[in-house]
Amino acid sequence: MYDGKKVIVGLVVFLAFALFPVWYNLAAGTSGYMPELKKPEGYTKCVESTPYMRAFHMDLLNQWRDEFVRESDRYHSAPDGTRYWKSLSGTCMKCHANKDTFCDRCHNYVGVTPYCWDCHVQPQGVK
Ligand code: HEC
Ligand code: HEC
Ligand code: HEC
Repeated sequence: MYDGKKVIVGLVVFLAFALFPVWYNLAAGTSGYMPELKKPEGYTKCVESTPYMRAFHMDLLNQWRDEFVRESDRYHSAPDGTRYWKSLSGTCMKCHANKDTFCDRCHNYVGVTPYCWDCHVQPQGVK
């Protein structure tokens, strides 16, 4: 018997596993190839450690959004004690103003297209 639903579920599960090594290695920094990223000038540190950010920035962003919007909890305390306003455009993109050669370059490589920019402002001068 042919069961379309099962085939689709199977395909999705297969793809998730097939692609896992790509994004996992990239996130862990153990991939042989890493797209060349333009890091922000004038800053040495992110809001959390670089390996943490590489692996978990999407979770951190979700957490920021939920805390900001639902709990009015608006500041993030970095490990070194610096406080950051929990904002995608106002904080992340202030430092990472080179979205095309940073966020996009990595995302294009792994094939993810965050939909955040439907609403959130992108750094100026960049499509
Ligand atoms: C104060 C400036 C600043 C802010 C704010 C900031 N970053 Fe960073 N970020 C940096 C710097 C500098 C690095 C590179 C650190 C290094 O070279 O080790 C970095 C590294 C990263 C990395 C890892 C890049 C790699 O080499 O793998 C990611 C991902 C990242 N940031 C995303 C974000 C996101 C998402 C936000 C907002 C939640 C954010 N950053 C906020 C300055 C910042
Ligand atoms: C070192 C590579 C790298 C850099 C640099 C990077 N990302 Fe990502 N990002 C990823 C990977 C890999 C995923 C997909 C993870 C997954 O599927 O679980 C992702 C996913 C996301 C997601 C979730 C998208 C979704 O549809 O689930 C958001 C939001 C995001 N990134 C925002 C940013 C922002 C903003 C920046 C720049 C400040 C940035 N990322 C820089 C690698 C990177
Ligand atoms: C449909 C429109 C829409 C989309 C798409 C969207 N957001 Fe938002 N986001 C909002 C609105 C509205 C707020 C509330 C802004 C306020 O209260 O000042 C918000 C607030 C936030 C905040 C906290 C405040 C700030 O200035 O950043 C974060 C972080 C955030 N969103 C992250 C994301 C991320 C990451 C994505 C993509 C994965 C995303 N959002 C996609 C509409 C959107």
